Amino acid sequence: MIQIPKGCKDVLPSQVYAWHKVEDTARAVAEAYAFREIRTPVFEHTELFSRGVGDTTDIVNKEMYTFLDKGGRSVTLRPEGTAGVARAFLEHGLAGGVLPFKAYYLISAFRYERPQAGRLREFHQFGCELYGAAGAAADAEVISLADAFLRRLGLREVALRINSIGCKTCRARYHEALKNYFAPHIGVMCADCRSRFEKNPMRIIDCKEEGCKAIAAGAPRMLDYLCNDCRAHFEEVKRLLSEAGVSYAVDPSIVRGLDYYSRTVFEFVSAAAGAQGTVLGGGRYDTLLEQVGGKSVPAVGFAAGMERLLMVMEAENCLPPADMGAACYLAGMDAPSREKAFLLAGELRRQGISCEVDLMERSVKSQFKYADKTGAKFVAVLGERELEEGAAEVKDMRNSSSERVKFEELAKYIQRRM
Ligand code: HAM
Repeated sequence: MIQIPKGCKDVLPSQVYAWHKVEDTARAVAEAYAFREIRTPVFEHTELFSRGVGDTTDIVNKEMYTFLDKGGRSVTLRPEGTAGVARAFLEHGLAGGVLPFKAYYLISAFRYERPQAGRLREFHQFGCELYGAAGAAADAEVISLADAFLRRLGLREVALRINSIGCKTCRARYHEALKNYFAPHIGVMCADCRSRFEKNPMRIIDCKEEGCKAIAAGAPRMLDYLCNDCRAHFEEVKRLLSEAGVSYAVDPSIVRGLDYYSRTVFEFVSAAAGAQGTVLGGGRYDTLLEQVGGKSVPAVGFAAGMERLLMVMEAENCLPPADMGAACYLAGMDAPSREKAFLLAGELRRQGISCEVDLMERSVKSQFKYADKTGAKFVAVLGERELEEGAAEVKDMRNSSSERVKFEELAKYIQRRM
């Protein structure tokens, strides 16, 4: 039998209702902040990601699904949503339009990672991006949107951690300090960290190898190297979050795994998601748009991993109950009543009521069993007598009470009681 590719997951009808809850909540909260949806292609020119996400990142170095198309062009399945939104924003000249530009997306993304719980090769993100606003208010707005989204899902145990990784100027000084600190240890660190040491020493702080982690624990902290502007910006973000009632902890170990960030970075973390505890991550990225070929536009945003969110929702008992049943099952006893059931079902559906009829040629008893198993709310039984009277015997499956209801009143009857 052909099996699903490693690191991918099917979402079955019995599971998709939980996805709908997350997607509906994402849309509702983003729209409440007046963000509008944007849709960009699943694949882009490879260069967009190597320049945008950054060639010192694991994503670009090891994890991209890159291939040559039939025209010999190198294309890549998007490993995240931000670079595509930035490209679309520039390509459509939106930098010259009304600012700030605020967009959200619900997408699939692809990374060739070693699969484990909460880490997939095809996964899904809800993301928000805000362009054109350089001030701390934009950071606070985006973080409070993320916080509102998680709270609206009912999550209580997800904690916000924030940090500042400064700007180009202050980070250069910090990189020097980090190099001085790591130089005596570099011989015993992992191969990745040895290359990070040369290209982007800050990324060493994010290494998951135990040996490297222990060394990194004593490393200098970016917060001690912030320039005055970056420090003032970070203070203002924290003040606004506190004013807005968004609780957070400053965590100097948050550096993020993508190259484009500057100043504010943040993650929402849950112990319930196991080793892959980050359910949502983001930050400010004022240099990305210039990097992918446009003019300089300040930007801030985040993305949440849908699969991880669902894991945490399950652990925190926030998943809605599965609701698979039709509002009404129409059972027919004989051939003429089956036909009437078929026609009545069409009528009810046109009025927005979900209903089912027998397609398996089952006995009435078996039809009842099926209706019960699938969780139908009402069963309307039709037989010779019912057809003569022009009324069905309607059973409310939740309390087993029954009533005679005229065919033409059936829709209203069900709607009133749903
Ligand atoms: P990221 O931290 O790479 O950031 O991913 C965001 C979230 O996507 C993670 O916190 C995680 O929940 C989920 N995620 C990432 N990789 C996987 C995976 N292999 N399997 C399952 N879930 C995963 C970004 O993607 C940035 N574009 C976020 C951003 C938007 N920053 C600014 N704007």
